[in-house]
Amino acid sequence: MSAPTLEIHIAPEQLTAALREDVATGLTSSPKRLPPKWFYDARGSELFERITQLPEYYPTRTERSLLEEHAREIAVIAEPQVLVELGSGSSEKTRLLLEELGARGTLERYVPQDVSESALRDATNRIAREFPEIEVHGVVGDFTESLHHLPSGGRRMIAFLGGTLGNLVPDERREFLASIADVLDPGEHLLLGVALVTDPAVLVPAYDDAEGVTAQFNLNVLSVLNKQLGADFDLDRFRHVALWDPINEWIEMRLEATTEMSVRIADLGMVVPFGKGEQLRTEISAKFRQSGIRAELAAAGFDGVQTWSDPDERFALVCACRS
Ligand code: AVJ
Repeated sequence: MSAPTLEIHIAPEQLTAALREDVATGLTSSPKRLPPKWFYDARGSELFERITQLPEYYPTRTERSLLEEHAREIAVIAEPQVLVELGSGSSEKTRLLLEELGARGTLERYVPQDVSESALRDATNRIAREFPEIEVHGVVGDFTESLHHLPSGGRRMIAFLGGTLGNLVPDERREFLASIADVLDPGEHLLLGVALVTDPAVLVPAYDDAEGVTAQFNLNVLSVLNKQLGADFDLDRFRHVALWDPINEWIEMRLEATTEMSVRIADLGMVVPFGKGEQLRTEISAKFRQSGIRAELAAAGFDGVQTWSDPDERFALVCACRS
């Protein structure tokens, strides 16, 4: 086994600059918003792993069983030599793909990318130990920017699992799918895991669990701002909110100020006023319809779309070929 390598495409200073920019823009917008990628410091990544084990949070386990059932078909369709995984996190479900791809003997390289260096380090070490015949190369970065640093050579498949596509707003999503199409050569594949539109009585508890882990995950973004930007958010004065937007067909997570307050963000020289009851949007998590995702993929330059979903139609794996 060769030791896994790690490539840092985003220097800590760049990461901080991007955070400053997002906070300066997002907290002066009306309504206030923050992009979800800032949830994932080491503690946020750990909290997310706990979410995936909650009884209410069905996406992870549903996607896992779909991968267990269909990884072989996917391997036969795409036959990649290089598997690139965007937003790989713990790479926990990816081993199901790696097993099948490894068994077919075509896979040479696994390139996971994640914004969390700690999560990526753990994952690359584990995967390299478990799959000694596969070369493992991690890329620390933002998934939209990492696309420009994709390895070339060898037939590639880009996997973007976990429903993370739904965390992009529609404009970002369109642009993102187009840039994936742009970096892939004709005949190469994209594998998406997307959550489907389902009953709000199932959807909402998945983002508002009884144990309150999602609430802690949501509030953690304020700790990230406290630590990274010297802000003085009092986490006890914000409340977790999760709601289903039936028009946009997405879940929205927000943090609601329970009192009027002023928050100082020392490193930005900013004071941010919050009214009592004011809400800050921290995440959208769009749910898809099969017809919609097919149309978006076709518009981006993909064809040969195949989908697999669970019997309750809550989650789908979507494999598309760059045309
Ligand atoms: C990052 C897409 C897997 O939107 O469901 C979990 C993140 N947010 N609970 C999602 C999340 C709240 C998650 N994904």
